[in-house]
Amino acid sequence: MLTRVLKTDKHRPSKKVLQEAAAVLKSGGLVAFPTETVYGLGANAFNENAVLKIFTAKKRPPDNPVIVHVSSMEMLNQVSTSVPRRAEKLIRELWPGPLTIVVPRSLKVPPVVSAGLETVAVRMPAHNVALGLIEHLGSPIAAPSANLSGRPSPTNAKDVYEDLNGSIDMIIDAGETFIGVESTVIQVSENRSVILRPGPIPLEILRKYLGDVEVHPSILSGGFEGVPASPGMKYRHYAPRADMIVVEGDDYERKAAKIVETVEEYLKSGLKVGCMVSEETALRLPGQVMLEALAPRNRLDLVARRIYPALRSLDRMNPDIIVAEGFPEEGIGMAIQNRLRKAAGYRILKA
Ligand code: TXA
Ligand code: MG
Repeated sequence: MLTRVLKTDKHRPSKKVLQEAAAVLKSGGLVAFPTETVYGLGANAFNENAVLKIFTAKKRPPDNPVIVHVSSMEMLNQVSTSVPRRAEKLIRELWPGPLTIVVPRSLKVPPVVSAGLETVAVRMPAHNVALGLIEHLGSPIAAPSANLSGRPSPTNAKDVYEDLNGSIDMIIDAGETFIGVESTVIQVSENRSVILRPGPIPLEILRKYLGDVEVHPSILSGGFEGVPASPGMKYRHYAPRADMIVVEGDDYERKAAKIVETVEEYLKSGLKVGCMVSEETALRLPGQVMLEALAPRNRLDLVARRIYPALRSLDRMNPDIIVAEGFPEEGIGMAIQNRLRKAAGYRILKA
């Protein structure tokens, strides 16, 4: 299959591009498009066959449900028949934005979208290309991240192309995404709210609107072995090809010293070492490492934007081991830590 790449502006997308892409979706094809978080691989959410193609193209396990993207309240009401009161408040305050809400699924949504669950995950993206595409199609778009299953999510069209060229119909190239990590996923019912995946909308903000918010135990502890509430939890995600280890600790000086010490040990034993660290830590590392300096360590927003491209870039350099710096778990830091730990398969070194 030939994968067409159409370029457009991220703020003011061309009507013509959106029309062509919507035509592909209407005929049951797949289009990768940018959202504010990462690129998504979209299909018409009401077309069962089209949605099935997403799983094939990504090599995604069929028991991992996908997110439905809407551009209006009417569309939300098409995909869910009973949105809880508490969720309405969140929606009013935080949509469009990087927040996915898990609510009861309407029969209009084919079961494959939700991997057979009675619920559906819905969000309204804050990106003019994504919103414009949904509007032009006139129905919701089912879209997981546009990477091969298990690989780091794509934050630009080149990374989508690397994974999916030849297996999807079209990529809309509108440059880099704004945030760099996937949306927060929260399950909301009348009397309980549980964060299933930490993301750009942090716990602190969700608590402001909902009061009591639980964080699913798998997110806090890592090596979780219960029944996953969100099927995505059980897969090793976002993973680079090399082994990876995350160095964590509350005291920055101790953490940085531990990173330097660990890197030197690996180098001494003859390994090719990749590093993914803050700019401050990068200055302390020996010249032989394959280095990805993410951002100043107090700029967690910039760290979030760099994580996935850095993992892909390290992959291309082909190290034997990647040593990553952990970051404080506040704000978007909880999402950063969750992705780093998953990428490392929960190999954590405490400093
Ligand atoms: O930012 C994002 O959310 C991006 C962009 C493209 O919108 N999408 C994304 O989709 O990250 P995906 O498929 O890579 O992740 C969807 C997550 C998975 O962890 C999945 O298990 C969970 O949402 N999920 C989807 N439907 C669910 C449901 N009904 N109940 C619980 N979890 C669900
Ligand atoms: Mg994904």
